[in-house]
Amino acid sequence: MADDLSVAPAPQAKTFRPWARPRRKKPLSLVPFLYQSWRDPLLIWSERHFTEPQLFGQGRFGAVMVVSNPAGVRHVLTDNAANYEKGRLQRIVLGPLLAEGLLLAEGTDWRRARRILAPLFTPARTAALTRRMAEVCAKRVAGWKLTRSQSWLEVDTQMSTLTFEILSATLFSDELEDDAADFEAALNRYLSIGARIDPLDVLGAPNWIPRVGRMLSGGSAQFFEARVASLVTGRREKLASGQAAPDDLLTALLSARDEEDDDRGGLSDREVAANILTFILAGHETTARALGWALHLLSRTPDIAARLQAEADGFDPASPDWAERLPWTRAVLEETMRLFPPAPTMARRALAPDVINGQPIPKGTAVVVSPWILHRHKLLWDEPEAFRPERFLPENRKSIDRYVYLPFSAGPRVCIGAAFALQEAMIALATILRQADIIETLGPGPVPTHQITLRSRVPMRLRLRARDRMTTVTVPV
Ligand code: HEM
Repeated sequence: MADDLSVAPAPQAKTFRPWARPRRKKPLSLVPFLYQSWRDPLLIWSERHFTEPQLFGQGRFGAVMVVSNPAGVRHVLTDNAANYEKGRLQRIVLGPLLAEGLLLAEGTDWRRARRILAPLFTPARTAALTRRMAEVCAKRVAGWKLTRSQSWLEVDTQMSTLTFEILSATLFSDELEDDAADFEAALNRYLSIGARIDPLDVLGAPNWIPRVGRMLSGGSAQFFEARVASLVTGRREKLASGQAAPDDLLTALLSARDEEDDDRGGLSDREVAANILTFILAGHETTARALGWALHLLSRTPDIAARLQAEADGFDPASPDWAERLPWTRAVLEETMRLFPPAPTMARRALAPDVINGQPIPKGTAVVVSPWILHRHKLLWDEPEAFRPERFLPENRKSIDRYVYLPFSAGPRVCIGAAFALQEAMIALATILRQADIIETLGPGPVPTHQITLRSRVPMRLRLRARDRMTTVTVPV
């Protein structure tokens, strides 16, 4: 089966459409808007957002512009990116933990941090991590002890643990190895309680008025801070004692020198801590969600899963062209991130007046570019609600506009870990499908919910069993 992929016809089975919530016809009035923003920001979008190229409104809390046309998106994210800083709510929700990290930094601080960190994410450096990523995936899947009888897998937890382990192995030289469960518990708590959009934040109430969610999740923030401090102390001692320090993210952060700005020296302690947390949070939760949704979609499309299994049977992480040999695996992941973008919204604030596609934008306007909306927009996609990975096969992908498909954003603030994420997700999916048949997802259809990332409201469970003709991925040492 693996040999005839290039000539095999596309799957003929009926197209699968994942469960989608009916969209509201009219925009929300104030109180329901505050409630739904707190409950799940996906619920604030109405049908018009998915049919209009852009929507501008002057509300009680200032002007809001939702941009869903490629020219407008390009203007905001690339051509006039300097006029747009990260949105106020994102800063409020993530600021307590990540304020001085790469994700939230602005201006010269951001440029300096990006210059320092970019060398860790070059194509060559990412490619060099293939073997290590494959080892981690093989070990985790082996730990499931799959048999020919079917068994349930807690997908969300397993995928988070797997991507956390990959991050620890590749960027932190295994120094987070024993922390996966504690980080997961603290992160789940933070995302489900602390990171909710509090009505007081939307109303612009002063910060000294306590926000219940953030108070309840205070323990998570303390855990993150304490763990990061001990990581930094341990590595600083190693560096100071002259021991050979691993060539990883932690060392890069602690010994950073910006060649273009030598006078400022390295990163401050607060910048180092915020970046460690930024990379732990941004660098594993998103990829875990992409993998979880991909496995769910494959559980409903056995014909496509079989195609991935055929590719997976030939997966060899030692081969330099392993990625080109997995076109369907990559296409499934890309189509998954179209339907379920792990980062569903990017919010910006206009620093000065601007014009987007003919629409005047006052200073201070909240500008929203939402992959959730763009990726299901009726003017931009044929059958937007259908799961059709063929769209992303190499011969079709060229026709997708760069500013219509944005799981990793675009422009100067594009995700620094995009290639890393796609690589680890392809390796993980190939490792799983080489060994497992995915039988079904529990329940009628997971409900997507926006809690910083796009998660399933109820933890997803899949039924798996060992494949008949099971092969183990061998990783050369
Ligand atoms: C499927 C996985 C991932 C998705 C969908 C994703 C998505 C994104 C998006 C949309 C942004 C832009 C956010 C904005 O501008 O508001 C972003 C930024 C960022 N991502 Fe990712 N990401 C993923 C994986 C990763 C990984 C693996 C890492 C690190 C190892 C990472 C680190 C970052 C950082 C540090 C930023 C901030 C970059 C900057 O502003 O210069 N991400 N990501």
